[in-house]
Amino acid sequence: MVREVDLRSDTVTRPTPAMRKAMAEASVGDDVYKEDPTINELEEYVARLLGKEAALFVPSGTMGNLSSVMAHCWTRGQEIIIGDESHMFMYEQGGISQLAGVHVSSIPTLEDGTFDLDVLKEKIRPANPESHEPSTGLICLENSHNRCGGRVLPVSFIREVCALARNNGIPVHMDGARIINASVQCGVPVHQLVEEWYRCPVGSVVVGPKKFIDRVHRCRKVLGGGMRQAGVLAAAALVALESAEERIRTDHRRAKKFAQEIYDLKSQLITCNPDVVESNMVLLNFPSSNFTSEDFVQKMAEVNKDDAEKVVLRASTWSKNRVRCVLHSDLTQEDLDFAVMKIRTTVL
Ligand SMILES: Cc1ncc(COP(=O)(O)O)c(C=O)c1O
Repeated sequence: MVREVDLRSDTVTRPTPAMRKAMAEASVGDDVYKEDPTINELEEYVARLLGKEAALFVPSGTMGNLSSVMAHCWTRGQEIIIGDESHMFMYEQGGISQLAGVHVSSIPTLEDGTFDLDVLKEKIRPANPESHEPSTGLICLENSHNRCGGRVLPVSFIREVCALARNNGIPVHMDGARIINASVQCGVPVHQLVEEWYRCPVGSVVVGPKKFIDRVHRCRKVLGGGMRQAGVLAAAALVALESAEERIRTDHRRAKKFAQEIYDLKSQLITCNPDVVESNMVLLNFPSSNFTSEDFVQKMAEVNKDDAEKVVLRASTWSKNRVRCVLHSDLTQEDLDFAVMKIRTTVL
């Protein structure tokens, strides 16, 4: 028997028996007509949780982000300002430009997921620019920040960006794939952290004022995201939300412990800074060109025949000298202990 410890992403988790039961028993209907009672319940629940007027269930986070940009940038010739390490900039195929026809102005993402407010100020263009320029239609944030290893944005930074945006009449979009992680980490209720928001297991929820959500509803349809009888998915999401905070707290505690144990190895080949672990992600660094992140990922995928316990560890290569490990609800503390043991025997 080989024990597989999958640290590639928190998207690899499977529905629990309670979710499966809720899915089997869910009342469903045509959500394009807004007649799916379970989706309606999820949307009302999430809007309440986030302190927003309305919410809309969409099939994925990517569609949540794209349809939000489309709804905000309603007229031609607009651009969004976005961090150059954000998920929307890096990993959504440039759909903002490719499909929505919205121009992207990127801003350097700093190590902690924030950006320089003076640079942001310089990037903002007037609502009625002279004819050569696009106008700034939206500013985007991400919290917690995926590429930055799950860093949680300081509340003061979010407030400063929102104030700057408000003074310039520009809305702010929050990619909150892991906004509950951010809320748990900084101890601030989730509704105080968000402008717009969404989350899994399958699908996401966009929230905001009713007028904005009506536009997102229209954009969702043109993107092929109008679903029927999708209450089976909303039923699983409602179950997940019930215990999300408690689950996430466990992931964060274990991530910190995992990072500390890697740090304590004092290895020349692999380093890790537990101080910057703020949620469920841990970035491992590979300072030596003799043992790169790819070498590590490959070694971890091999079963060592001499070991009493056969373990395979899966993780994502983040760059030439970085690997991302993500903790999630399908892992036990024992899985993580075995993962550390395998890393120890490989790098010491
Ligand atoms: C921060 C962030 N935003 C957006 C997405 C996209 O979500 P989806 O894969 O559901 O399209 C992800 C996916 O992991 C993500 O991590």
